[in-house]
Amino acid sequence: MTPADTSESVRARLGELLARSRARTTELTEAVDDGDLIKQHSPLMSPLVWDLAHIGNQEEMWLVRKVGGRDPVRGDLDPLYDAFQNARKDRPSLPLLNPTQTREYLADVRAETLDVLATVEFNGERLTKDGFAFGMIVQHEQQHAETMLATHQLREGPPVLHGEPLPGSIGQPLPAEVGIPGGPFTMGTSTEPWALDNERPAHQVHVDPFFIDTTPVTCGAYLAFMDMGGYQDRRWWSEAGWAHRQEADLHAPEFWFRDGGLWCRRRFGYVEPVPADQPVLHVSYYEAEAYAAWSGRRLPTEAEWEKAARHDPVSGRSRRYPWGDEEPTPTQANVGQRHLSPAPVGAYPDGASAYGVHQLIGDVWEWTSSDFAPYPGFEAFPYREYSEVFFGPDYKMLRGGSFGVDPAAARGTFRNWDYPIRRQIFTGFRCARDARPGELD
Ligand code: AVJ
Ligand code: FE
Repeated sequence: MTPADTSESVRARLGELLARSRARTTELTEAVDDGDLIKQHSPLMSPLVWDLAHIGNQEEMWLVRKVGGRDPVRGDLDPLYDAFQNARKDRPSLPLLNPTQTREYLADVRAETLDVLATVEFNGERLTKDGFAFGMIVQHEQQHAETMLATHQLREGPPVLHGEPLPGSIGQPLPAEVGIPGGPFTMGTSTEPWALDNERPAHQVHVDPFFIDTTPVTCGAYLAFMDMGGYQDRRWWSEAGWAHRQEADLHAPEFWFRDGGLWCRRRFGYVEPVPADQPVLHVSYYEAEAYAAWSGRRLPTEAEWEKAARHDPVSGRSRRYPWGDEEPTPTQANVGQRHLSPAPVGAYPDGASAYGVHQLIGDVWEWTSSDFAPYPGFEAFPYREYSEVFFGPDYKMLRGGSFGVDPAAARGTFRNWDYPIRRQIFTGFRCARDARPGELD
């Protein structure tokens, strides 16, 4: 989807994307039996059957009722599948649809959605301009597909999901860090058709000169932090980070365990030695912050991350993706749940940004030091509960997207957020530092 597409190409593209998101959702929910769908695998997550019905309910509300102006398919379900009325931990005790009823409900809604899509006009109101509401619902389903993938990661038992083999690293060592000169760049967007409200509007941001890691921090580098007593040394941790480290008894990334002298990890039911050359995964903001301090650096701000990812110093404009304006090909980014793992660092030279920063999109979500704040000129659209109610210091920004995100919900402007203690999501990080005077002039 580019800003210049015609109505008919938008309609065809939306049909494909709706089918692709449903195929993903179906694969994730057919992989387990009904008992597993109903079960709560962690108090942090919904039962998979709740995510599934919630996906259908949002689609019904926005595309069937609001855009289509049609009667409800199942208006009685709204309170059950409203994320704000029901905390995740309470969802298993609700009178939910069973798996068969849920699948029927999704099919009924989808039939109506496709009917609406066949005749909708894209050039009128803001909600439907360039297919926005449909693009939003595609992204919503794909976001829940990533959430469901995180539930799979928390689920006990033998593997039921299988990814394709990972690409290898390019072999040539990359420079450890890249210098980004100071100056303004365009952050956010006013032209990306399906950008969500928090990515808007485009605005100029001045960034001081800084250095950023060429790739995300690897498991191997993180092991050095662990081996040198990083988890035991109060110096590297913020006050809140240390308090959490003590209370939660953190001593390694989630899903890691020691087998004799070897660090191993559990990944979707597989057990494997921790891969030294892959980005570290399943660390909290506080662990990322401590590692950065131990290595003599800090986490990048959200603006620094986006400048390193999008700014083209030759044209002076910001790209849609690090590599340019076109959606990722399989050699540019590890996205779409293709591999079910981060890839080795250096595996995506084609995906590097104008400045030569690698693996910004895909592999792992990257913690930044920024809180979730609106951009100047922010306007909640089409509902306050997507972004606005989360603004404030409670959440830290995550950028770039993991191997679990679909390309429809991964672009240079996309913003994600979570509590700094969370690590069941597919999070890693890279480090940054201020440039010393004269170092980048
Ligand atoms: C943007 C990933 C934080 O999962 O809570 C899904 C996305 N919003 N349904 C979330 C979302 C409404 C959201 N995150
Ligand atoms: Fe949702």
